[in-house]
Amino acid sequence: MFGAALTATICRGRSSFLDVSNRVASAQFAAVPRLNPRTIARFVDPLPIPKVLSPSGQRADPAAASKTLPFYRVEMREFESRIHRDLKPTRQWGYNSMTPGPVLETRRGHALMVEWVNSLPKRHMFAVDHGLHGAEPGLPEVRTVVHVHGAKTLPESDGYPERWFAPGKSATSYYPNTQDAALLWYHDHAMGINRLNMFAGLFGLFVIRDEVEEALALPRAEYEIPLVVYDRYLDTDSQLSYPVSKDPRNPWVPEVYGDAILINGTLYPYVDVEPRMYRFRILNCANGRFFSLSLSNGQPFYQLGTDLGLLPEPIRLQSLMLFPAERADLIVDFAGRQGEQIVLRHQSIELCQFRVKRGVSGHSGAIPAKLRPIERTRETAATRSRTLTLSEVDDYAGNSMIMLLNGKRWSDPITETPNLDTVEIWNLVNLTGDAHPIHLHLVRFQILDRRPFDQFTYNENHTLRFTGPAVAPDPGEAGWKDTVRADPGMVTRIIIRFEGYPGRYVWHCHLLEHEDNEMMRPYEVIA
Ligand code: C2O
Ligand code: CU
Repeated sequence: MFGAALTATICRGRSSFLDVSNRVASAQFAAVPRLNPRTIARFVDPLPIPKVLSPSGQRADPAAASKTLPFYRVEMREFESRIHRDLKPTRQWGYNSMTPGPVLETRRGHALMVEWVNSLPKRHMFAVDHGLHGAEPGLPEVRTVVHVHGAKTLPESDGYPERWFAPGKSATSYYPNTQDAALLWYHDHAMGINRLNMFAGLFGLFVIRDEVEEALALPRAEYEIPLVVYDRYLDTDSQLSYPVSKDPRNPWVPEVYGDAILINGTLYPYVDVEPRMYRFRILNCANGRFFSLSLSNGQPFYQLGTDLGLLPEPIRLQSLMLFPAERADLIVDFAGRQGEQIVLRHQSIELCQFRVKRGVSGHSGAIPAKLRPIERTRETAATRSRTLTLSEVDDYAGNSMIMLLNGKRWSDPITETPNLDTVEIWNLVNLTGDAHPIHLHLVRFQILDRRPFDQFTYNENHTLRFTGPAVAPDPGEAGWKDTVRADPGMVTRIIIRFEGYPGRYVWHCHLLEHEDNEMMRPYEVIA
């Protein structure tokens, strides 16, 4: 299989542990005939650019009686579209019949409302595992609920996984957007089938802008391009193929790494660019694959921002690592590259081609030296420190294994109860062989460090014996984050101010197969 062949060539450095688990996971898959994406012509389709959605009307603002706010109606539907010139149309599920869905765009402090409408079929396009918590037999097979990832919203608008609604129903959410400019994204969050709903195509971008960002005069309009990157398996009929285990009663598989990598819904797209600076807003929305992105001509690029906004200053990079749900804000300068064809790659896999037009170079050169100051949250500000494990355990009752946070299942009583407006340090103790991207709803946080520890000692008597010095976060992680890579054998420390609203939210692993199999916990912000 293509995936297996790749793992041999891409094993290096920090990423190798993932590729090992990739092989383990694929060994448990039922064999299915699949399309080999290496046989498909490259760079024959233009890169689609997701369109910004216009509101369908105005509504009274629930937070300010005399004011109105834009109201959007977004409908989830099944649709077909061609992801490549030479393939048959692929059946997908999308917001407003698009994958990625339409872009919701707003400004800091400008609230908006969305009615999310479930107009999907009643049968799922993939095999539901009824042994997973929240997907028990008897529930509607197709259920959806929408979460805006990175948004500071009230709990009732946050897309709590159990607040799902079936086809024919809808839910309206209010987004105050009282937060810094950033690239957020919306996606499905339905309990027990989230991985399937997202694999089917239920995700889209949500952009917040503000004056600080605008004052930097970064490339905008057609020079600011979102790149939504994700991997899929396709069958020989060009249809999405979600892997299943060899046990038809428990089809769940622990990890999914597809071999067809799509950008904005297209396989191997190209984009004509002018010889000037561009701003790329990148989202990894794969179920499980990380991306290590670089340009084929070795040219450097600049990272301006992380998940939740601008960095203090730009960082020069040769390659960029993004785990599922992480975002990056990049500048690439094509000035002086007239006539070149530059390929964006994930390791050795070609993803997308930039064709630089001839003519005179445009806007180029000066990237502002200072972007947005970030005040480091001091460790002494923390009133509480929690030690929270990430673990995998065998589950003989049903699926081969389950993944746990803090040794607890979703249905166990809540254990994380931070007080509103206080600061906590969370020590994520990873006892597994995988890196897990850990996401907290509602809040933004900073990464303090990662430190290797002795897993054997920890398993014996629950004490942390460190085996090396703490490692500072990568420069590109030194901004506001909502998702952090917790490396295996490391304690990853994050510092969080629980700002926003009291109420019930969730924190979870953003490897969607893990999230659907117990690696998600409710938490409660106490007023
Ligand atoms: Cu990207 Cu709980 O979400
Ligand atoms: Cu995980």
